[in-house]
Amino acid sequence: MSSYLITGAGRGLGLELVTQLVQAPASQVSVVFAASRREPSSPLQKLIDSSSGRVVHVPMVITERASLDKAAAEVEAKLGDKGLDVLINNAGVMPPTFEGIAKMDNLRYALEVNVEAVHETIAAFLPLLKKGTLKKVVNITTTLGSITQAPKYIWAPFPAYKISKAAMNMLTVQYALEYAKEGFTIFGISPGWLKTDMGSQQADLEVDVGTKAVLDIIFQSNPEKYNGTFQNVLVPGWENKEGPNQYDGKVVPW
Ligand SMILES: NC(=O)c1ccc[n+]([C@@H]2O[C@H](COP(=O)([O-])OP(=O)(O)OC[C@H]3O[C@@H](n4cnc5c(N)ncnc54)[C@H](OP(=O)(O)O)[C@@H]3O)[C@@H](O)[C@H]2O)c1
Ligand SMILES: *[C@@H]1O[C@H](CO)[C@@H](O)[C@H](O)[C@H]1NC(C)=O
Ligand SMILES: *[C@@H]1O[C@H](CO)[C@@H](O)[C@H](O)[C@H]1NC(C)=O
Repeated sequence: MSSYLITGAGRGLGLELVTQLVQAPASQVSVVFAASRREPSSPLQKLIDSSSGRVVHVPMVITERASLDKAAAEVEAKLGDKGLDVLINNAGVMPPTFEGIAKMDNLRYALEVNVEAVHETIAAFLPLLKKGTLKKVVNITTTLGSITQAPKYIWAPFPAYKISKAAMNMLTVQYALEYAKEGFTIFGISPGWLKTDMGSQQADLEVDVGTKAVLDIIFQSNPEKYNGTFQNVLVPGWENKEGPNQYDGKVVPW
């Protein structure tokens, strides 16, 4: 009977997270708040219409604190005296730089959406999360944000993205340390390279496969093993694959 809020729910991984969460039994998932900055996309609208009230759209501009506070008040009104159980920070951007790091001119944008807006989202929903039973916050991160694995991804022309996700990982740890004593489980998950607008059709995994692997981790996560960690998804057949990407369900080195 848990409540979820997903940012960037109009397409890609966010949309598929909403799709799979609403397929879970009502005893496991009571309501899914699907947040996006625009009107619901047509697939999200279809999900809402067929969900008998279990999927609720929340208009939310994550880069504007006033919009986040308004969204939190709306969610609070819908939840009544209950709190929010799980927040999934999924919205993100991956601006490219093709001419080498010195030509990077989109770092501020990447930091604003991937780091600052995630921090503001958590801050705005923290009072509701404190009232929740599960107290889980999950940031969708990426192995491209691993400093240890950076040499392996030198071919991927997204320095601002890599830097912003490494910063997001540190923020995850800061929140995890500070809120552990209140029973929170705060951690990052790398969903794998997925066939979305961001991932392109060259990606390794279908969106539904990566999404299921993400939810497998979220459902089983607990404070003792997961708080403050950086988790990789587990996808059968991909544990020891050749090439840069393995999906072995292990903790990713920072
Ligand atoms: N795809 C992959 O291979 C992959 C791999 C590792 C990690 N990830 C992570 O997974 C998450 C989702 O990625 P995806 O593949 O689903 O990407 P996507 O298809 O490009 O979707 C991006 C989502 O983020 C939202 N968004 C972007 N900028 C925003 C802003 N300024 N304000 C509010 N929402 C914003 C978009 O909303 P609009 O529709 O309103 O634009 C959209 O819902 C990201 O955090 C990404 O870093 C993806
Ligand atoms: C997510 O990252 C933000 C910063 O980008 C940080 O404030 C927050 O603590 C992190 N939480 C989780 C669960 O990763
Ligand atoms: C929460 O995360 C921090 C940082 O990784 C860790 O030190 C702490 O032990 C975790 N809390 C619990 C209850 O495990």
